Amino acid sequence: MIEETETGTCAPVSASELKPGTRKARTINIYSRLAGLYSFFRVKDGLDTVLELMAIEDGNRVLDVGTGPGLYALHIARSWPNCSVHGLDMCSRFLEIARRRALKQNSTNAHFTLGDAENMHYASSAFDRVLYCSTLVLLPNMKGTIDEAYRVLKPGGIAVFKELLHKWFIHKELFYVFWKLYVKTLGLFCRDVRGLNRTDYEGRKLTESDLSLLLQESHFSDYKVFTKGERLYAVCRK
Ligand SMILES: C[S@@+](CC[C@H](N)C(=O)[O-])C[C@H]1O[C@@H](n2cnc3c(N)ncnc32)[C@H](O)[C@@H]1O
Repeated sequence: MIEETETGTCAPVSASELKPGTRKARTINIYSRLAGLYSFFRVKDGLDTVLELMAIEDGNRVLDVGTGPGLYALHIARSWPNCSVHGLDMCSRFLEIARRRALKQNSTNAHFTLGDAENMHYASSAFDRVLYCSTLVLLPNMKGTIDEAYRVLKPGGIAVFKELLHKWFIHKELFYVFWKLYVKTLGLFCRDVRGLNRTDYEGRKLTESDLSLLLQESHFSDYKVFTKGERLYAVCRK
């Protein structure tokens, strides 16, 4: 049985990790402020490839880690009404949006829960499929996160990771010049963005060889890493 709360009242992230300045505290801060804007503009990029790699079967239990506004989770819930789909996120503002969207699409098989990807409150071997879309790169402990994916998967289960390649990633200092301009301009129209500064956002990128190395060191022995267009994918079978 999956141990979880659907009310989002569990305390999944430890107080020390939420101390101002830690990566997790900064992630929660920035996503809490940008959740509305992000959800409005977010599109399901790479969806076809994600679904092909996930090879979802009727009745599967699916987990979307770092679900954000729940775009991928809700799409899966709608397309596979006999699957139970669980979206986990550390940012409660995103979960409110995802739950509201689930209600709007009359989804009874999508559940959204507050939790930390690095230390999930689900029982081991609880899921048939686990998905990470643009989430892995945000996590301080990517290796620990992949271990968690392996733990919650049933034997034979599949984990899919998708990240943007950021081929355009420019020099860090130059990036922050654009970041400052971007925040200033956006702040003219959107109050939530005002006052965000450089220390609130730390861009990181993950390359094909980084991800291959992480998986090589993980418990997964059956995995494939590849790039397609601007995206990096990995599919792993337990
Ligand atoms: C770039 S967004 C991607 C959202 C969604 N997967 C999508 O593709 O639209 C990253 C998400 O990961 C969540 N996140 C970051 N660190 C997390 C953690 N430690 N545990 C759970 N969620 C986390 C953020 O709150 C955010 O919703």
